Parts: sequence; C-alpha cells; structure tokens
Amino acid sequence: MTPGTTSVFSLPPVEWPDNEFLKGLFEPVRAELEAGDLPVEGRIPEALSGVYMRNGFNQQYPPLGNYHLFDGDGMLHAVYLDGGRASYRNRWILTEGLLEERRRERALYYGLAELRFPDPDLVRSTGPFKNAANTHIVRHAGRYLALWEGGMPTEVTRDLATVGLSDLGSDYLGPFTAHPKVDPDTGEMLAFGYQPFPPHVRYLVVDASGVLTTVKDVGIERPVMMHDFAVTSEHVLVFDAPAIFDIPGALAGTAPVLDWKPDEICRVGIFPRSGGPSSIRWFEIEPSFVFHHMNAWTDGDVVTVDCSRFPDLPLRFHPEDSLLEVDPAEMHRYTFDLGTGTVGLEKLAEGPSDFCRVDDRRAGKRTRYGYWGTMLDPDRSFAVFDAIVKYDDSTGSVTRFRLKPTEWTGEPVFAPDPSGAAEDDGWILSYVSDMAEGTTHLHVLDARDIAAGPVARVALPGRVPFGAHGSWLPD
Ligand SMILES: [Fe+2]
Repeated sequence: MTPGTTSVFSLPPVEWPDNEFLKGLFEPVRAELEAGDLPVEGRIPEALSGVYMRNGFNQQYPPLGNYHLFDGDGMLHAVYLDGGRASYRNRWILTEGLLEERRRERALYYGLAELRFPDPDLVRSTGPFKNAANTHIVRHAGRYLALWEGGMPTEVTRDLATVGLSDLGSDYLGPFTAHPKVDPDTGEMLAFGYQPFPPHVRYLVVDASGVLTTVKDVGIERPVMMHDFAVTSEHVLVFDAPAIFDIPGALAGTAPVLDWKPDEICRVGIFPRSGGPSSIRWFEIEPSFVFHHMNAWTDGDVVTVDCSRFPDLPLRFHPEDSLLEVDPAEMHRYTFDLGTGTVGLEKLAEGPSDFCRVDDRRAGKRTRYGYWGTMLDPDRSFAVFDAIVKYDDSTGSVTRFRLKPTEWTGEPVFAPDPSGAAEDDGWILSYVSDMAEGTTHLHVLDARDIAAGPVARVALPGRVPFGAHGSWLPD
C-alpha cells in the first residue's frame, strides 16, 4: 500500500477456485482504500472537476458452482478530480444479497452459469439471484445508480456509501437495463428490462425528476438476452437477436441457460418515442449480436445506429464453459429506412472494438466522434484492450493510442471540457493496469489528440481489476 493510503475495510486472502475470471486481470481485490493527493505524472486539466466512477465485478466469497464474470459483487472505484489534484476510494456495493452473505460469511447464491436456487428463505427475501449491482454507474435526477440488468438500480452516494435498492418512485420491481439513455434535451432516462419469462421485454421511461412513469410491453415473445438498446431524439431501437434462454433445458441439464440459435430470426424493432412500442416496426437482419451501441440518430426517414457487432454470441451461461471462441466484435453502422423498409450495414473500422462511447451530451443526435477500446495484439482475449481508438465520422478514419505491452485497459469515457465548443473538446478517462507491476493508473488523454498519449497518469493506491462501465460525473 502506498504512503498516505488508508485501508477502511479489508478481508484476508482467499483461495479462489481455478477459474479464468478469478485470476490475473480479473482477480478480485480484498480491500477498500482511500487516498488523497495522488501522485500525478503530467498535469490533470484544472477544468476537470468531478468524479470518475467505474463499476465492476469483485466477488467477495468463493463462489458456489461455476463462476461467471458477470456474477461478481459490484465494486465502485472512484477518482475525484478538483483543481488539478486527485483522490481515490473504492467500495463494495452493499447489496441485500452481499449483506446476507456477510451475515453468514459465505456465498449463498448460484451464478448465471448454474440454474440453481438458494435457500427458500433467501428466494423469498431477495429473489433467486443476487442483484450484484455490478455493471454500470450513472447519475440521474441527482441520484447515483449502480445498475445490474436483472433487477432494479441500487442507489449509492457520491462517497460510495450504499443507500439501497431503488424503486424509482414506482411499483415496478422488474429488471432494468445497465445501459439506460438520458435524453440531453428532455432529461428523461429511457430504459428497458428483459427477463426469461413473459413479458420478455418492457420499455421503461424514468422522468427528469427520477420517477419511473412508463412501463410498456415491447411484444417480443421469446426469452432473449438484450444487454443494450439504442435511442434517438425520436425513436427507440431494440435488437431481438437469437440469444435465447432455455430454462426448461437448463433445469433438465440438457442445454445451457443461454445459447445462440443462429437459425432463428434476428431482427431490429423501431418505434417512435411519441407512440411507444405498440407502433413498433420490424427489420430482419443477418444473425449478429450487439452488446453495446455507441450512438443513434434519426434524420428524416432514416434511423442510424453505430454499434459494436459480433457475428455470434461470444458467451453462454453453462456449468462447464461460459466463453465461446468467436470472431471479435467490430464497429458497424446500421441504417433503417422507415420509408422504403430497407436496411443498410457497413463496417466503420477494422479490428476488435467494444465498450464504445460518445459525448453523452450528444446522445441520440448525430455525432462525428466516437471512442472505444481495441486489441492490436492478436494474442489478447475478449474485452481486454491494449489501445484506445478515436473515430472521426467526417473522414471515416481512426487514430489510436497504444498502451505499453504489459498494460491493459477497459472502457474509455469522454469528459467534456466545460469551456470547449467543439465535439471533441474534452478528455478520455480510463483505468490502465500494468500486469507486470501490479499497479493501476487513471489515464487522462486529450480527446483532441489521443495519439499524443496521456496528459496525466494518476497513480492509484491499489490495483483495479478488469471491470465494466463508468461515468464522468462533473460537479
Ligand atoms: Fe455493457
């Protein structure tokens, strides 16, 4: 532990089972740390005033059965920036399930790869699965919401204390995506929830004051997995891909919980936000799976969505194996012409691409720039990146910043320069871990010139494992 660091909570080392998601980059950390005035190489832009929070998977107890990465207990890692100085803290999100496990000092819930239920009293109190709150952290209507797509958001504070499960002021207690979209003009947060039993997919709207006001059945009649969706200022797009849950098959032990069925239809539904899903129109597409959409917009009759497109589902939930060997995702653009009913598809850039982001203030509107992670080293694996990409749609070109060979990173998050007017006036934030050193830095790249390398490297007091999504939350 570096000098000036306080450990506010720690657990003794634990013997993890042999599982690819519990070692190396993925190995959970065992302590909650705080440190002020972090060492900085370069200069943190003084205009950056706020907090970068990132959520991720950090299992606390040795798991029951086969562990899948997505099962891990949510942990937030936050770097607070103010006047060119930085401080850090990390905290487990104290979900109802994790608190129950702490009371009994062991894992109590099975993961996604195993279709098994915990003790009946737990099923009654918290449901059959732990809402691990481990996938994303967003701020809406002044509330910090840690998201997990199987259940409702968990509210936390800016200091990362857990408030508890949120009902968003409604009586809806169903699934809620980890990728809601906030409309920069109306302040509404649009979302959806999917589940393996009817109604399979519901469209949700949380108003600008934070109250969930709309719950509507999208009308998908099969149990699909849907991690993300896309929203424009006028339309909502849902990708109904053949990533299908087979609960009876899994209970009988004859099928994975979730599997890819490329012979079944793959289609995209588009409905106007003003009319809702009762006026959905379907467009059939070639089999493909999208974890993450970058942005979408409507221009006349044409709806465009840029997304990270897999030709196949890259994972499944199965007791023996969870990660399939498939071609990586690449950035693509779909266009749907509502007048002619035609679909266009083009590749935006070559090479593995995922965890794509834009300036969130331009969500739902045409954007020129996008940012994502890529893997230039062909020996690296799924969703671990060795370079950050900036895409310029005006030329169709990309620029990259490549890390050192021992470094890896995750999602790049755009933090706007409050005094800037151009779309790329801002910085790119991401955690970069050095596998040789066992250290993690916050990298601050100038979005106007990412190839120049970080303008600041902020040394964190402890390692940050591979994680999921985060947000820049300005003061
Ligand atoms: Fe995601």
